Amino acid sequence: MSAQIVPLATNDSERVEKLIGETDLSRRVDELAEEIAAAIEGQITLIGVLKGTFVFLADLARALDRAGKPVQIEFLRLSSYGNGKQSLGDVVLIGGGPAVGDNREVVLVDDIVDTGHSVQYAQRLLQANGIETVWTCTLLNKPSKREVEVEIDFVGFEVPDVFVVGYGIDFAEKYRSLPYIGTVQ
Ligand code: IMP
Ligand code: MG
Repeated sequence: MSAQIVPLATNDSERVEKLIGETDLSRRVDELAEEIAAAIEGQITLIGVLKGTFVFLADLARALDRAGKPVQIEFLRLSSYGNGKQSLGDVVLIGGGPAVGDNREVVLVDDIVDTGHSVQYAQRLLQANGIETVWTCTLLNKPSKREVEVEIDFVGFEVPDVFVVGYGIDFAEKYRSLPYIGTVQ
C-alpha cells in the first residue's frame, strides 16, 4: 500500500528569508563531523529521524567518512507536526524502528530540537530496544520552546524562535529541497 500523500499548501503570499547559507552549513557540518569523530571511539551507526534529516544526514555521513569515521546508516520515522507550525506534542513512530548491531555507538540525528518530545521519544525507543547509550546530534537547536529536558551532545546551530525550512526541513511538505535554511513569514 502506498504512503499517504499530504497535499501541498498553496499560499502564494509565503515568503522565505535566508537564515543560514550553504557555505555556513557545509562548514559547520564538517566541524560537527570532526567533533563526533573526536568524541566517539567505536564504530558509529547514525540513526536519522525522517523525513527532515535526509539532507543533513547525507552530508554528515560523508563528512564523517572524510574525517576517518565511516558510518552505518539507519532511519526511524516520527511524526509530531501535522501541516501546521506548532508541534502537536504527541510523537508517533511510523513504520518499524531501526536495526542496530551489537557493539556499535548510536548517534541519533535530528534536524531540529524544539519542544524536545521527539528526541526524548526516540531515545526511549532505542533504549527499550537494548541500546544503552544514545548520543544525540541536531543540526538546529531551538531552546526557547523546550518542554522536556533533553541532553544534546552535538549541536550545529542555535536558532531563535522562528519557523525554519530548507536543507530537508519542511513546512507542510514544501521547501525540503531548498539548499539553505530559511524562515517562513
Ligand atoms: P519537537 O518534538 O518539538 O522537539 O520537534 C521536533 C521536530 O519538529 C523536528 O524534528 C522537526 O521535524 C519539527 N520542527 C520543529 N521546529 C520546526 C521548524 O521551525 N520548522 C519545521 N519543522 C520543525
Ligand atoms: Mg524532525
